[in-house]
Amino acid sequence: MDGNGRWAKKRGLPRVMGHREGVKRVREVVTAARELGIEVLTLYAFSQENWARPKSEVSALMELLQTYLVNQLNDMLTNRISLRAMGDLERLPDVVRKTLDETIERTSGNSEMILNLALSYSGRYEIAQAARRIAQDCLDGVLSPDKINEKLFSSYLFTAEYPDPDLVIRTSGEQRLSNFLLFQAAYSELYITPVLWPDFNRDEFVKALVDLQRRERRFGMISEQLKPCTVNGS
Ligand code: FPP
Repeated sequence: MDGNGRWAKKRGLPRVMGHREGVKRVREVVTAARELGIEVLTLYAFSQENWARPKSEVSALMELLQTYLVNQLNDMLTNRISLRAMGDLERLPDVVRKTLDETIERTSGNSEMILNLALSYSGRYEIAQAARRIAQDCLDGVLSPDKINEKLFSSYLFTAEYPDPDLVIRTSGEQRLSNFLLFQAAYSELYITPVLWPDFNRDEFVKALVDLQRRERRFGMISEQLKPCTVNGS
């Protein structure tokens, strides 16, 4: 959700105002995703690298996150959205961690959409953690090294229960993955838009999805090998 700082700067406002406007787009995009039948929406809300930002900005972001979780609980319950989080969550302030855990718990029975927040997240950290747990299971004798393949590795990632993302949206024109879902995004379609996150509204989100629908995803094969699209299983 990039470009909050630039959005604020362009208007002569403090950076936090950009983040505040960004939260409104979070609400708008989550609602749109739910209505459009998206199964899993992962939002990269805070990276491990973001801890190095000025203390005041980190605190402001944590407060926004806390307020968002408190304010959106009813909406998540009404719309049957299940909240999840992934990352080095131990580093979050205690109060945020507690609210996060409670929100995850209270929405855990919901099944219409998964809203997965990447918090204190780093793709390299996630891969290293998976490797560490695999090594431990081998040492403990519950896993044999010859069973390690891509599928098994995926099952040790934070995203074990979710499919790989079909689409990765990058706002504000940045042209890199910035440590996001490095393993999972191997065959994801990338949608890079110059629109700054606080301007990324429902229409922009729909535009990204329509763009995805127009693409041919070959997964390394050739066009002729692809099955024709099926609608409602027909
Ligand atoms: C990157 O833009 C954005 C962030 C580090 C924070 C994103 C957080 C929110 C939108 C709000 C909190 C999240 C939730 C889920 C309620 P940037 O600040 O780096 O922008 P810049 O590149 O223009 O400086």
